[in-house]
Amino acid sequence: MLNILIETIWLMLPAYTPNNFAVIFGGGTPIDLGKKFINGRRILGDGKTFRGLFFGIFGGVLTGYIQYNVEKLLGVNLYSRFPLENALTFFFLFSFGSLMGDIFGSFIKRRIGIERGGKAPILDQVDFLIFSFLFVCHHEVFKELFGIEIIILAFLITPILHRLTNFVAYLLKLKDVPW
Ligand code: CTP
Ligand code: MG
Repeated sequence: MLNILIETIWLMLPAYTPNNFAVIFGGGTPIDLGKKFINGRRILGDGKTFRGLFFGIFGGVLTGYIQYNVEKLLGVNLYSRFPLENALTFFFLFSFGSLMGDIFGSFIKRRIGIERGGKAPILDQVDFLIFSFLFVCHHEVFKELFGIEIIILAFLITPILHRLTNFVAYLLKLKDVPW
């Protein structure tokens, strides 16, 4: 049981880290360029920036690349059983999906009247998860490594991990709010 828990967290890491990189390195020009949607509210808001998207993807791929090499070093055979370029494509899609889910979540939040930084239970915790899986679901790395038990466990543990990391980011003053 502990093994599969650790394996799930390990496999999910390249989808988890993009948002942390976005928090640390994000800022600047917002992706919606400050524009409003038909209901008069921002399309996405100032919390979704090009820099966050760029560094987020970079961070996710970097995380995966480090994991790939750590696995080789330790003789673990998860991501490292695939050729590096397949693994890198997977890391890119996984990170990109994660951030697109986060952006989609903000779009929904603005539509239902939640301001930037406002809390949206469930949506905040699973938007990126659903999108990261959608972006990789046709990839061979996903098909081979992500069994149904891993996917179910990811949905169960992600909300807890998400709260925990956001709270730490808040304590470190990286985020204004603990969610
Ligand atoms: N961030 C960014 N670009 C992104 C995602 C995140 O610059 N694509 C940065 C922003 O500084 C953002 C912070 O990371 O404020 C925290 O991310 P998140 O909680 O997703 O954004 P919120 O500010 O809470 O905005 P929203 O309500 O739209 O989720
Ligand atoms: Mg937020």
